[in-house]
Amino acid sequence: MTERKLPRPRAQLAQFQPYRTQMLKADVRINANEWPEPNPVSRYLSADELDGIILNRYPGRGDELREVLSARWGTAPDELMLGNGSNELLLQVFLVFGGHDRKTLLFHPTYSMHGRLTEIAGGTVATEMVGLPYEVTRDRALAAMARVRPEIVVFTTPNNPTGNTIADDVILSVAEQYPETLVLVDEAYSDFAGTSLVGRRAEFPNMVISKTFSKVLAAAGLRVGALIVRPELMGFFTAAALPYNVSTLTLTVAARVARDEKAVAHRLELAAGERARVLAALRKVPTIEVFPSVTNFILFRLREGTPAEIHARFLAQSVLIRDVSMWPGCDRCLRASIGTPAENDRFIAALDGVFAAKATSR
Ligand SMILES: Cc1ncc(COP(=O)(O)O)c(C=O)c1O
Repeated sequence: MTERKLPRPRAQLAQFQPYRTQMLKADVRINANEWPEPNPVSRYLSADELDGIILNRYPGRGDELREVLSARWGTAPDELMLGNGSNELLLQVFLVFGGHDRKTLLFHPTYSMHGRLTEIAGGTVATEMVGLPYEVTRDRALAAMARVRPEIVVFTTPNNPTGNTIADDVILSVAEQYPETLVLVDEAYSDFAGTSLVGRRAEFPNMVISKTFSKVLAAAGLRVGALIVRPELMGFFTAAALPYNVSTLTLTVAARVARDEKAVAHRLELAAGERARVLAALRKVPTIEVFPSVTNFILFRLREGTPAEIHARFLAQSVLIRDVSMWPGCDRCLRASIGTPAENDRFIAALDGVFAAKATSR
């Protein structure tokens, strides 16, 4: 029998590998930068209110959610694209402004999905390797822009996995000098840092800003994100948007999640206090280099031992952190999210055992 021929994706995706998530079992899961305290949906919806959520009709535009979010961020409701997690909106950015023969400039090390989504959309990634410490200066950013001339440039601030911000003037200088480049600012962690470029958006209509419910809003499981887009570009996004992409249930719950400013204030305070405690503990470990963080996670680089070995030693104590050593520019690095106080106690208590054992040299 002749071998049956099967459809093939375009060449760019033929060898593509799935996004790696670490679904390993552990008591302390501090590997994905989620909010660690349980956030049950019953906090937001009563059984009676569930009766009011009608599933046979398609969802509406999310007017209530748009209103809450625009009040929170100081935008107009119509400046928001809503999505099923910010990743979906990031993909839209690359589909609409990237694609065949178009380049995305990334400053590495950074969030790996920007590169993956660029390629899924058919575009090409151009890299400026900043390395560690992650200092994206104005000169460096402008030189990279002049070298690459990208259709899209991405700034993640604060940046994942490095935990530090990129200065506003770096991003705004690029937006100003390259008005024909789409400047995507990923603000997934900006609440923790108390920074945002949303207030500057009217001056730079080529800048779009992504936000997520997965971090300080403690709703990674809900899958909600928003993209803030000026009217000058909004039509290109709405033309390509999937209709009804956010469910009725999600829209309803998200509006309540976003309204809960008291919970956000509690989380910011907790994250800041716990981050200081975890940073102080990590800084006492002589065999690692710890990078300063303004987020809910901390990056550190090993001076000895291998990331796989150190990761496994944490896991042996039922603490799951993230091995990011294969991310470009992150050689020998691991990342730990800030957990609950009890989880951070477990992480800190594990440090002596993990780092005391004689490391095998690389
Ligand atoms: C920088 C950055 N952007 C976006 C996301 C993903 O967000 P979402 O859960 O909204 O798809 C993450 C998640 O870790 C992230 O680190």
